[in-house]
Amino acid sequence: MRVLLVASAFNSLTQRVHTELRYRGHEVAVELALGEDLLRARVARFRPDLIVAPMLTTAIPEDIWTEHTVLIVHPGPKGDRGPSSLDWAISEGAREWGVTVLQAVEEMDAGPIWASHSFPVADCGKSELYRNEVSDAAVAAVLLAVERFAAGDFVPEPLDYGRPDVRGRLRPYHSQEYRRIDWSTETTADVLRKLRAADSQPGVLDELYGREYFVHGGHNEDRLRGAPGAVIATRDGAICRATVDGAVWLPQLRPRRIPGGPATFKRPAVDALGADLPTGTPEVAVTPADAAVRDTWSELRYRELGSVGYLEFSFAGGAMSTRQCRRLLAAYRQACARPIRAIVLGPDRDFFSNGIHLNVIESADDPAQESWHNITAMNDLVEAILTTTDRLVISALPGNAAAGGVMLALAADEVWCRESAVLNPHYRLMGLYGSEYWTYSLPKRVGAAEAARLTRETMPVGARSAADSGLVDRVGPGDTHAFGAWVRHEAALLADSPELENRLTAKKQLRAADEAAKPLAEYRAEELAQMRRNFFDEGEPYHQLRRNFVYNVTPPATPAYLLS
Ligand code: COA
Repeated sequence: MRVLLVASAFNSLTQRVHTELRYRGHEVAVELALGEDLLRARVARFRPDLIVAPMLTTAIPEDIWTEHTVLIVHPGPKGDRGPSSLDWAISEGAREWGVTVLQAVEEMDAGPIWASHSFPVADCGKSELYRNEVSDAAVAAVLLAVERFAAGDFVPEPLDYGRPDVRGRLRPYHSQEYRRIDWSTETTADVLRKLRAADSQPGVLDELYGREYFVHGGHNEDRLRGAPGAVIATRDGAICRATVDGAVWLPQLRPRRIPGGPATFKRPAVDALGADLPTGTPEVAVTPADAAVRDTWSELRYRELGSVGYLEFSFAGGAMSTRQCRRLLAAYRQACARPIRAIVLGPDRDFFSNGIHLNVIESADDPAQESWHNITAMNDLVEAILTTTDRLVISALPGNAAAGGVMLALAADEVWCRESAVLNPHYRLMGLYGSEYWTYSLPKRVGAAEAARLTRETMPVGARSAADSGLVDRVGPGDTHAFGAWVRHEAALLADSPELENRLTAKKQLRAADEAAKPLAEYRAEELAQMRRNFFDEGEPYHQLRRNFVYNVTPPATPAYLLS
């Protein structure tokens, strides 16, 4: 079938639906909802059999939904309506929620139902829930709806509030009036629910040292205590704020825009507060090993199970600044010093990595120089993984990765992906040549022609296609829990296998042969020569593209790479 995806942005769910439908042989095109006439023209040109809207914040024009079947993905159970479904679900503590695929009609979210799927609500921020449980449920519902449409005889179920399984209702926009935190009365559980319902957007509007900020993210702290509302500690750029019965970690802040002033964006909380943060605020570190057995915020956790070490890293938005890369490298080196036979790298859930930290770079006094520091720190990390020859290294991806984040994963001996993961193995959309030794690791896996295609076409790749092309080695099943269990089982089998010694010997030999053919330092120097131009030369598009990304600038039209 010819399926046109209409979306407000080519976001994670739209990319996922794109990869899943293509994998099933459909011809799929994408149009961003940037104006009714642009959409009409695209529909007329593409002549779709079906239109699917995985993430749409505006209405489809009537003439389009009367002439074509348009299926809208709504992140709420049957009967739920309104623009803030997930915000309400999280703030009210729902344990189960749903996704419904409904047909576009005059009234928003009120059309007949083609499919619906429920999911358990994990204890995490809204965007993380969206990229994981919501996305899995949405894909299941979309695939069922597409199948039903293709069959030709399915009659969608009219929305009927009299039915026992229609439990949702119309809810208003979840404005800041519902989000505001009263630090003098609210418990940690209340505060965390509010923070999670607003994460990653729009954040909770709050006040610190007499200035207004949107707070992004929120995590429990198990030990530190203080006067309710007081900032009692910092850790790796985050601040810890006391509640009436505990404390929470707040990793990122975005200053409220002053009317007429420049737009603002998220930054590590300590950087955003700058000189306002009292100098006596203690930096309270936690080691990755301690973090693994505590209920506190840490971007790094390390645990050992049998002969396998698990180095978990989890960076907001998958972005890795210079400092974050250096901390991860230090933790990796420590793991390598342990008496283990294999190391598994990757987060417990969500993004693996999206490469260098564009927001931190944007806020630097000299963004070109900071870009250079960041890519250098990324390369040091990747190099350490590529040159680990005395044990097996596995990258485990429960969620998505992009740009340098994909290449970071490829540095390992094996790359295992959850079946839902979407990879974007390219840099061009950010105007970069790319580094992270991709010119060594990508062609080695997929061949020169496929590497050139992936980096030129800049399309997302689903986990199964990635496995078919050799970009990744294995695809693991199920939700993030099932994937984690599968990874632990398979990693233990490999690490304890009598074959491991032979494998490590072969690995050493291969690395030596590769090094003799062309040293890693040469790959690095060649890539960095290109990156230096991208960062420092006049007329390079990177700085503008980065600004557009950080300030979330809407493109004037659907980008050319999505049109074919
Ligand atoms: N630096 C800073 N922030 C980043 C980031 C990066 N490299 N990659 C993602 N993020 C942030 C996004 O701004 C977004 O923030 P928000 O939740 O406040 O809106 C969040 O992480 C999630 O990203 P989003 O774009 O909403 O997710 P997505 O799944 O829809 O799209 C990508 C994922 C990877 C396609 C997209 O984020 C992207 O293109 N990232 C940049 C990749 C890149 O070019 N890296 C630099 C070169 S190495």
